[in-house]
Amino acid sequence: MDARAMPQPSDKPDTSHFWMPFTANRQFKNKPRMLVAASGMYYYSDDGRQILDGTAGLWCVNAGHCHPKITEAIQRQAGAMDYAPAFQMGHPLVFEAASALVSIAPEGLNRVFFCNDGSEAVDTSLKIALAYHRVRGDGLRHRLIGRERGYHGVGFGGISVGGIAGNRKHFGPALPAVDHLRHPLDIARNAFTRGLPQQGAELADELEQRLLALHDPATVAAVIVEPIQGSTGVILPPAGYLQKLRAICDKYGILLIFDEVITGFGRLGAAFGAGYFDVMPDMIICAKGLTNAAVPMGAVLVRQEIHDAFMDAAPENAIEFFHGYTYTGHPLASAAAIAAIDVYTSEGLFEQAAAMAPFFEQAAHSLKGLPYIKDIRNLGLVCGIELESIPGQPGARAFNVFLKCFWEKNILIRTTGDIIALSPPLIINQMQTEQLFGALAEVLRGL
Ligand SMILES: Cc1ncc(COP(=O)(O)O)c(C=O)c1O
Repeated sequence: MDARAMPQPSDKPDTSHFWMPFTANRQFKNKPRMLVAASGMYYYSDDGRQILDGTAGLWCVNAGHCHPKITEAIQRQAGAMDYAPAFQMGHPLVFEAASALVSIAPEGLNRVFFCNDGSEAVDTSLKIALAYHRVRGDGLRHRLIGRERGYHGVGFGGISVGGIAGNRKHFGPALPAVDHLRHPLDIARNAFTRGLPQQGAELADELEQRLLALHDPATVAAVIVEPIQGSTGVILPPAGYLQKLRAICDKYGILLIFDEVITGFGRLGAAFGAGYFDVMPDMIICAKGLTNAAVPMGAVLVRQEIHDAFMDAAPENAIEFFHGYTYTGHPLASAAAIAAIDVYTSEGLFEQAAAMAPFFEQAAHSLKGLPYIKDIRNLGLVCGIELESIPGQPGARAFNVFLKCFWEKNILIRTTGDIIALSPPLIINQMQTEQLFGALAEVLRGL
């Protein structure tokens, strides 16, 4: 970006009033890390540095920052119509956005419920699952199954089926009738595997052998998993694992929900993880890349039969599903989604990510052998690098790496616990990939 075009921060803002999410507030406010502009692969900080974005913001700016077509679509819509209610009213863009999303979705997943982010999309999908069984007269199915270390946002539904202890333990019992599969991370057997781990598909069998045996399959409404567990530190499904989950769900009439908030929109080099793994869920949750993160939006893609069950069960002219948000299908979000999906397809960004994935994998695994690295995992344009923790200080080593990368190397990485997660925009090139892993390697060597 031309330095003259960069916004100049006026005064340092007063940081005391904003309570920052998932942040060590006091630590941050001691020495703020401020981003003031963005373009393509880069952020710009308030001290004038260009920062290579190794995380696509928060796994969401897949087409790169401030893509002109997306920016222009939002600007145009803001001047034409700021807001329209979605309850009992409509505007053309939200229908177009749904059609655009369906055009890149796996076949059969052709009904779309819009909301505002991933957390709302998760809770929406759980409510659809529970209500679906009821409208079919199978209301005994009230139980939900998630996974240890799963991240499904921060709503009460999401933290109930989610399995990250820190996100759950302060908030009481949340939803009843929820159980969890074990997560499939097995460093002892799979460390430094390139791509999918080969060991561990049998962990899916515990759905049938442990959880369904314990609870009675006739009480289970849905199983929800991320195809790749992202936020917890990049846990990949062992080869064949997702296929097994699908087969067990089919056997017992249980809905399978894929939370693709991270894996959607090209992260694996395909539109969705479902297509990449060739496993068709009954619902796909998405958000983040849906609008290239330029305006908040989430969505649940639903199999038509599920949608139709609601239509068939309600009397003519009655509301079929008592759920929705003031900002469902917001015009600016709809405009951004249409533009983003157009950019992904017309510029071939999913294919571009697929083509870059082998180089990215090679660069990631070139770090093997550096101090404290105990595992490197990758798929598509996602990589997790797990470090040995400093005894008694979980997360401190990786966070130190994050700080050094930002302040000394001008690269943005993300950490969770002692795992470094990288997920750059899909437009990253070979030089930027080398810069990203090269800078990280220098920091790790210096630990
Ligand atoms: C798999 C998954 N589901 C849900 C969410 C929640 O999305 P949001 O933060 O938009 O509510 C996230 C966010 O990272 C996610 O990774």
